[in-house]
Amino acid sequence: MIKLENAAFSYGDKQPVLAGVNLTVEDGEFLGLIGRNGAGKTTLLKILMGLVKPQVGKLENTFRRAAFISQVTGAADMIFPATVAEVVSLGLKYKPFAFMRRADWAKVDQALESMGIRDLRNRAISELSGGQQQRVRLAKALISDPDILVMDEPTTGMDSDSRDEFLHETLRLNKEMGKTIVLVTHFLSDLQGADRIVALREGKIYPHGPEHCENREAA
Ligand SMILES: Nc1ncnc2c1ncn2[C@@H]1O[C@H](COP(=O)(O)OP(=O)(O)O)[C@@H](O)[C@H]1O
Ligand SMILES: [Mg+2]
Repeated sequence: MIKLENAAFSYGDKQPVLAGVNLTVEDGEFLGLIGRNGAGKTTLLKILMGLVKPQVGKLENTFRRAAFISQVTGAADMIFPATVAEVVSLGLKYKPFAFMRRADWAKVDQALESMGIRDLRNRAISELSGGQQQRVRLAKALISDPDILVMDEPTTGMDSDSRDEFLHETLRLNKEMGKTIVLVTHFLSDLQGADRIVALREGKIYPHGPEHCENREAA
């Protein structure tokens, strides 16, 4: 569970990004978050994860471990020459490849297996399709066994097949593996499986309803 109460945040002396935000994420919930560019969605995610501290407000959380899948700006985290297994192993955080033990590589294989990409393990990351790369990102996030996955516009830049595949995996993680999911997106269609959708507007959180949306696709 994450409970944020009356949070306010601003960068330096700029106009506040968040003002009086109340938001609770329940265990096992799939929460969708929408809002315009610059609305403060990424900032809010970082606050929910405890990476950024709001100047005002109270944060309570009970999660064991959170994994963050960040907004993709190009494939910067993917282009260095590495295999799929090496990239996923970076999710373990604590050791360079040379110090990986057999048990660590077993965890890598398990994470690959859970995303259905074990056969890609020795492929160069740069030669995979967008959908495959996104599965690698999920596997890298899953290897630390998080109970909550926080995803920032994960489907931006994906073709529709990759997006469908990614959303299918995300729903499976939520419904079958019990992971709590917070997903930020510009596409309402990404949130068909979400338990709840909220919108961030003018620094505050609103329950999402049709009146907050100018057209069906662009949220
Ligand atoms: N590190 C930063 N320093 C100063 N301003 C920032 C920083 N990060 C984001 N901002 C500003 O805060 C506002 C909210 O940004 P962000 O949380 O990234 O919004 P969103 O993810 O909804 O697009 C924007 O106006 C952005 O320019
Ligand atoms: Mg953002």
